[in-house]
Amino acid sequence: MADTDTAAGHMDAIYRSQRHIYDLTRKYYLLGRDRMIAELNAPAGGTVLELGCGTGRNMILAARKYPAARFYGIDISEEMLITARGNVAKAGLTGRITLAQGDASSVDTTRTFGIAAFDRVYISYALSMIPPWRETAAHAMALVKPAGGSLHVVDFGGQDGLPGFFRTGLRAWLAKFSVSPREDMEAVLAEVARGAGARLEFARLYRDYARYGVVRRG
Ligand SMILES: C[S@@+](CC[C@H](N)C(=O)[O-])C[C@H]1O[C@@H](n2cnc3c(N)ncnc32)[C@H](O)[C@@H]1O
Repeated sequence: MADTDTAAGHMDAIYRSQRHIYDLTRKYYLLGRDRMIAELNAPAGGTVLELGCGTGRNMILAARKYPAARFYGIDISEEMLITARGNVAKAGLTGRITLAQGDASSVDTTRTFGIAAFDRVYISYALSMIPPWRETAAHAMALVKPAGGSLHVVDFGGQDGLPGFFRTGLRAWLAKFSVSPREDMEAVLAEVARGAGARLEFARLYRDYARYGVVRRG
């Protein structure tokens, strides 16, 4: 099988060159990430997992905001992880941020990190790139601690409140990177919450440019 035929190979092909300009360019259009980090409220001594951590940008900001928590990141792309490891080292956070290659839809975190469940799990602009995204959302919920744990998701919305030309142009641009906004994200997270006996808080941000959901266990 050619390398690009696998999910990991496909992501590596996209990010091999993009990773060098990723943080600079994406800060203008991956909106809602900072709000999600601000509202993580990671407990002291707690554990936080990011699925699809990319360059480590979110983990570094979150690790600074919650200095008593430990952070774990999974990404399928070794190319992205090269940049993430460099960024984490530059930030002086190698002792608090652990990174590993894995598939968010099925990762066994006990085997990878020795941790079965986390206080916080978050997924930022990755569900829109993962074909089995519904299964990934359900898997992420299974990795949330039963007592007081939460799952946080931010990603592209349907852009329903934005002008048609903007929406069409953005969709075409995103398709170049294999990004598909998940129109039924709210319904899927509601189902995940129901299945876990948890409750969902959901918001459409910036005229539905982005969608943001938090599933909280009791
Ligand atoms: C748009 S980037 C977002 C990166 C980061 N979460 C952020 O907010 O800046 C999507 C990331 O998801 C990763 N990814 C895609 N499919 C994945 C999968 N099945 N498992 C884990 N990571 C995946 C990509 O390699 C990429 O790093």
